[in-house]
Amino acid sequence: MSRLISRGALIVFEGCDRSGKSTQCKKLVEALNNDGIKAKLWRFPDRDTAIGVMISRYLEQKCELEDHAIHLLFTANRWEAVPRMMELLSSGTTLVVDRYAYSGVAFSSAKQGLDMSWCKQPEVGLPKPDAVLFLQLTPEAASERADYGKERYEQPEFQDRVADNYKLMTDDTWKMIDASQTIDELHTVVRAVALEVIEKAKGQDIGQLWT
Ligand code: TMP
Ligand code: MG
Repeated sequence: MSRLISRGALIVFEGCDRSGKSTQCKKLVEALNNDGIKAKLWRFPDRDTAIGVMISRYLEQKCELEDHAIHLLFTANRWEAVPRMMELLSSGTTLVVDRYAYSGVAFSSAKQGLDMSWCKQPEVGLPKPDAVLFLQLTPEAASERADYGKERYEQPEFQDRVADNYKLMTDDTWKMIDASQTIDELHTVVRAVALEVIEKAKGQDIGQLWT
């Protein structure tokens, strides 16, 4: 299929809490824009929508929600963003996404009574990332970073289970990156990987996750 405009890439960052995803996403978008590449920062949960407000209250421990129900809200928060994401990708903008369906599955299935295959179902068919940059940091190292422990889920034992769940989802789109490097060292690695992914994505259609 020939295209008048080559599409943007869908680049997802994953990793445990405090592994440096948000910092790296921001720096990557800035660097790409400076190089004249259209790129936009995206994040899940998007706390600005009506669904996102409920999620945010739950994370800040201001309300309780049944485990399946909050899982489906996180998923719905992705699906509500899909039309806009697809529009941007097709018009040539690369999306750098701070967390995606893998967070949804890794965190929810770390709870008692929710299994991974159930958690994956509502995420099936979302736009498939061209690459997942997984920032690897031990939960112990993460827990020493600033602000750790303020939100629900920021507890070492829970994060250990999250890390195990992530491992079960790796596939050939995943790039494992050592997140214990300095911010600038890490950025250099991330930027090089992203440029390769953006180039490769130009010739490929956007896939569907877990189909
Ligand atoms: P944040 O700190 O990146 O804003 O993420 C908020 C928390 O929500 C983090 O602990 C991971 C968790 N989470 C889920 O449980 N399910 C999801 O689908 C997403 C995107 C995040
Ligand atoms: Mg957080």
